[in-house]
Amino acid sequence: MRRRVVAANWKMHGSTATIERLLKELQPLRVPQIDVVLLPPIAYLSDVVAHLRGSSIRVGAQNVHPEPEGAYTGEVSAEMVKDLGATCVLVGHSERRRLFGEGDEVIARKFVAALRAGLEPILCVGETLAEREAGEAEKVVTAQLDAVVGVAGVGALKNAMIAYEPVWAIGTGRSATPSDAQGMHRTIRERIRALDPAIADGVRILYGGSINAGNAASLFAGADVDGGLVGGASLNAGQFMEICRAA
Ligand code: PGA
Repeated sequence: MRRRVVAANWKMHGSTATIERLLKELQPLRVPQIDVVLLPPIAYLSDVVAHLRGSSIRVGAQNVHPEPEGAYTGEVSAEMVKDLGATCVLVGHSERRRLFGEGDEVIARKFVAALRAGLEPILCVGETLAEREAGEAEKVVTAQLDAVVGVAGVGALKNAMIAYEPVWAIGTGRSATPSDAQGMHRTIRERIRALDPAIADGVRILYGGSINAGNAASLFAGADVDGGLVGGASLNAGQFMEICRAA
């Protein structure tokens, strides 16, 4: 059985005060059966790690640079994120692809960098609305997956997770239907199965895009849906805890 995961993508939100409050509000959360991951802005990563010391909640970053160090002003390496006490990192979030011009090649390098540093990458894939309406959702998502697997090798997925996040569902209040989500998760898993059945059975595939306390249970009911990547609703402790309990 794959252990379920719920990850909180706080994006560029929060302050010392609001994050402290949120962490306090999350204290009653007790879900030992699942992995809970918090992904704060890098500026607060150390604070969150320190606050959660001794807890089973994991902490990760939202992005890393592919190189371990160097003259890359303003960037942060996977090694640095690991050094701060994080255990995982998002790679290829659609906002990175769309707003920061990240293509498959750099995303593959970031994925490899995360593994090199001993972090578990969460590879985000997902189609735009135009791509879905053109009937190309599966083609787009499998190409995003192939681009990383082609570079890192299928075996790399042993220490990684995948998040299927349809771009049109992110921050829009319009999630995928449970059956559309399950369908794409199945497609992703079957794609991996063709290369390595054991890896396919083990890899955790999260759904992301407008998950909330009301729709989480039905989305997580899909046989190939192993949890969620939660944006907006993760900034509300009550909502986030309900989503964790749904998992
Ligand atoms: P959302 O964001 O839950 O606010 O739609 C999800 C994400 O971007 O990971």
